[in-house]
Amino acid sequence: MGKRNVPRYPEDEDSGGGCCACLCWCCCFLLLIVAALAGTAAYFFFIYKPKAPSYSVSNMSISQFDFNSNDLTLYTKLTASVRAENPNDMIGISYGEGSHTVVSYHGTPLCSGKLPAFYQGYKNVTVMDIAMEGRHGFGSGLQQALEESEKAGNVPVDVFVSVPIALRLGSVDLRQVKVNVHCVLVVDSLSPKKKPNIKSATYRANVEF
Ligand SMILES: *[C@@H]1O[C@H](CO)[C@@H](O)[C@H](O)[C@H]1NC(C)=O
Ligand SMILES: *[C@@H]1O[C@H](CO)[C@@H](O)[C@H](O)[C@H]1NC(C)=O
Repeated sequence: MGKRNVPRYPEDEDSGGGCCACLCWCCCFLLLIVAALAGTAAYFFFIYKPKAPSYSVSNMSISQFDFNSNDLTLYTKLTASVRAENPNDMIGISYGEGSHTVVSYHGTPLCSGKLPAFYQGYKNVTVMDIAMEGRHGFGSGLQQALEESEKAGNVPVDVFVSVPIALRLGSVDLRQVKVNVHCVLVVDSLSPKKKPNIKSATYRANVEF
């Protein structure tokens, strides 16, 4: 028994040492990967100096705003001009298919549309005219609220924009992410008779990875 055990110890130690060495290598390898990623990120930020694009609603015109008193629905047709600025020197932005824009009043959608799919080059400002239309239920409570807002000359409307974008470095598109912008616009009126003036606008944006 004793004789048998003796040669076993170095074996056990060996396998234990092998496992340790393996762990050690794994750790080194992981560290190397982390360092490489950090280096790449630093290089990316240093060379490309990425800046967030900005969006704003610069103009709005309403061509139809017809209330149907039979079924209490409102048909709205409007065009909003969205100004998109890419401030980057070396990063292009490609806007993908599958975007969605909605204009709503007090949580009720009025109309919807989408952005064109296009590529925006460096240091480019593009104003997109987004045509939106829709027919949605619009009850008496909402009508009353709208009348009061109109009288006060402060009509709050929400504009939601959701668009898939990918940053383009040289000729390579990075992974697509979804940018969501919520804009609270206060206009002086919502009717086709008078062009709405934008009195104030606040923006909130987030990115879905
Ligand atoms: C806003 O849009 C209307 C209609 O599309 C146009 O006539 C007007 O010139 C635009 N105003 C601005 C400031 O761009
Ligand atoms: C900005 O990009 C758009 C879309 O690619 C293009 O039509 C427009 O000419 C560009 N503007 C400038 C100033 O380069």
